[in-house]
Amino acid sequence: MPGETILLIGASGQIGAELTMLLRSQYGNSNVVAADIKIPVGELAESGPFEELNVLDRNRIAELADKYKLTQIYNMAAMLSATGEKFPQKAWQLNMDGLINTLEVAREKGIKKMYWPSSIAAFGPTTPKTDTPQITIMEPNTIYGISKQAGERWCEWYFLKYGLDVRSIRYPGIISYKTEPGGGTTDYAVDIYFKAKQTGKYTCYIAENTLLPMMYMPDAIKATLQLMDAPADTIKVRSSYNLAAMTFSPKMVGEAIKKHIPDFELTYDVDFRQKIAETWPGSIDDSAARADWGWQHEYDLDKMTADMLKHIK
Ligand code: SER
Repeated sequence: MPGETILLIGASGQIGAELTMLLRSQYGNSNVVAADIKIPVGELAESGPFEELNVLDRNRIAELADKYKLTQIYNMAAMLSATGEKFPQKAWQLNMDGLINTLEVAREKGIKKMYWPSSIAAFGPTTPKTDTPQITIMEPNTIYGISKQAGERWCEWYFLKYGLDVRSIRYPGIISYKTEPGGGTTDYAVDIYFKAKQTGKYTCYIAENTLLPMMYMPDAIKATLQLMDAPADTIKVRSSYNLAAMTFSPKMVGEAIKKHIPDFELTYDVDFRQKIAETWPGSIDDSAARADWGWQHEYDLDKMTADMLKHIK
């Protein structure tokens, strides 16, 4: 797809880092500008352009749109659920004003396509917990979740009002070994693999039978690129798509790890994040994504576990 120039805000984050590298391999290194308040190291820094950027600085996003003649913006910058409960004002400002800044620049500068991630956190305690439908009750009660719910409404509004081609996915918990997540409720499902490999034990802050929807990073990246590549008229949902691959509890992931590390010891010390997890769905109905743009996941719990343990040193 020649002629595209992409800005990825939040490129030093868990999803942003891997998405930047994949976009660079598809569009050419110099056509994907990584941006973050945190300066990256390693292949991300070396493989293409980087701009120091705070997503709250709308003028600078507009400057970058001119400087690089941007055609697409991905805004992956956010404060996640657990940290957001500690810094509610900051979380709201970063997640909400950051989104509105990128939507506005996209509109003003005639950006062709924009991407913004929503989350299972946009659901809440009154949402049906099993096979949560695409369209359902959404009364989130974390600041992160409220910002994602409101953000979905803003995205759809920009599409309806201005025809801005903005696309979004409600990610489940994302598991990866390259860049650490930070400040999320689902982070346990990453830590558990690192601790299992490095120390043989893990103390989990989520209770053993709490089910949460999860996804391995390669599937999350594949879904994102697939959604962004799909013809605009196939995108029927302009708020954010449900997306699913697997559902598990800490106990289930512990058992999957024990198939590789039989002595793995899993204990529990539940904290405030349990209450957040309990308000989220246990499993997700993503039939709209499968029907509209052909989504199919590849990794289940066992396949992901084998791959995680193979890659963690
Ligand atoms: N992984 C996120 C969190 O736990 C949910 O989007 O906050």
